[in-house]
Amino acid sequence: MACGKTIYRGAFVHCASLNDLDICENGSIGVDESGKIAFILRDVGEGPQHLPDGGWEQAEVIRVKDEGFFFPGFIDTHIHASQYPNAGIFGKSTLLDWLHTYTFPLESSFSDLAVARRIYPRVVSRTLSHGTTTACYYATTHVPATNLLADICHARGQRAFIGRVCMDHPATTADYYRDPEDESTTLALSRACIAHIKSIDPSFSLLSPILTPRFAPSCSVESMRALAGLHREMNIPIQTHISENPAECALVKELYPDHTSYTHVYDAVGLLTNRTILAHAIYLDASERALIRDRGAKISHCPASNTALTSGTAKVRTLLDEGLTVGLGTDVSGGYTPSVLAEAREAIFVSRHVAMVEGEKAKLSVAEALYLATRGGAQVCGLENKIGGFEVGMDWDAQLVGLPRVPGEASIQDNDLDDAGLVDVFGNENWEDKIAKWLYTGDDRNTLAVWVRGRLVHSRRSFQHS
Ligand code: GUN
Ligand code: FE
Repeated sequence: MACGKTIYRGAFVHCASLNDLDICENGSIGVDESGKIAFILRDVGEGPQHLPDGGWEQAEVIRVKDEGFFFPGFIDTHIHASQYPNAGIFGKSTLLDWLHTYTFPLESSFSDLAVARRIYPRVVSRTLSHGTTTACYYATTHVPATNLLADICHARGQRAFIGRVCMDHPATTADYYRDPEDESTTLALSRACIAHIKSIDPSFSLLSPILTPRFAPSCSVESMRALAGLHREMNIPIQTHISENPAECALVKELYPDHTSYTHVYDAVGLLTNRTILAHAIYLDASERALIRDRGAKISHCPASNTALTSGTAKVRTLLDEGLTVGLGTDVSGGYTPSVLAEAREAIFVSRHVAMVEGEKAKLSVAEALYLATRGGAQVCGLENKIGGFEVGMDWDAQLVGLPRVPGEASIQDNDLDDAGLVDVFGNENWEDKIAKWLYTGDDRNTLAVWVRGRLVHSRRSFQHS
């Protein structure tokens, strides 16, 4: 009989540290009624004598046999929900012309709530289907559409940071898409979104508002200062872009000639805090990196976007070596994919391009990329004690990854491919190789089921409770 408790049995894998994938081939993870991990057993039998006290004999059991494993849910530390219809559309543009050609026209269309109603459910479904259990979303400047995104995340059970985009400076906005030029109005709009999220999730347990000045060139000093004040008043996190593209960096220099650097602009207005997520961070100099580290701000690495918009190659090894906190961001639609798994792959390949110039040390391993996609992302969001790994007391934000074996008998049929999963595991691979196959050749067909705080939020037809 169901008692609200669940035991997940089978193989589980998570990142113990940056370099260390912890693989348990035969485990049991108990998740209580509140969605928290209550116990983790490794390599013990399944008899009731192995279960802790507290009614676990009645728990529902979800079992993965030898064709898959449980893995922590992915954390997308930077994604523009409103830009999803443009995924894959960027031509040969670079950041500043891309914004005007593709992005502002699309984002401004969310003034019509019907557009948001059509797009946002799809974004949440799609990211969940790729195993994204937490997303840091940029919406648009519009309050009703931003609130709708919050409603959808809440209804679907995705953990999310929801940001109304703030942009009031004529330099990098458009006449048809800009906040009012009076920072008190800008602030009132952001407060309205915060109030809405508070009304549906009063303790911000699943959803959190996030202050979202688009980037320095599109915000007035007054609005950035006002948002920093709101951050101090309510301890709400902040997300923005930094140092993504050479023309953007030159523009910041031109707009702020008296500031030492791009990073110092954010610091001067009070936006560089230990709750700030900075996307891209490609062209930071050593003094900027030191300042970011000293303030405790975090980096969202967005390699797919950085390649697509030919923005540059972020030196992730340097960031990590210098003690900065790094997670991954898909940056849809600068990035073409809503998949954090694909983003991890892109992170590895970009690191190899860096290595071709700077040496072997720059290369990220499979384990490191998966760490950035989970634990790193959790640190970037300030949720490292809650999500990103499998530890007692953490929330069950997890995905079941399926790796179907090719049947023993060779078949000569027209279609012997199994839609349940793309990755062909032949049976004898060791665990490291299986995981590498997943990372390099897998996609959402391998994501058989996804849970957030113990709630099943996505499953493929081929997944069944046992
Ligand atoms: N900088 C300012 N706005 C944006 C955006 O929407 N996407 C990216 N990649 N960079 C930005
Ligand atoms: Fe972005």
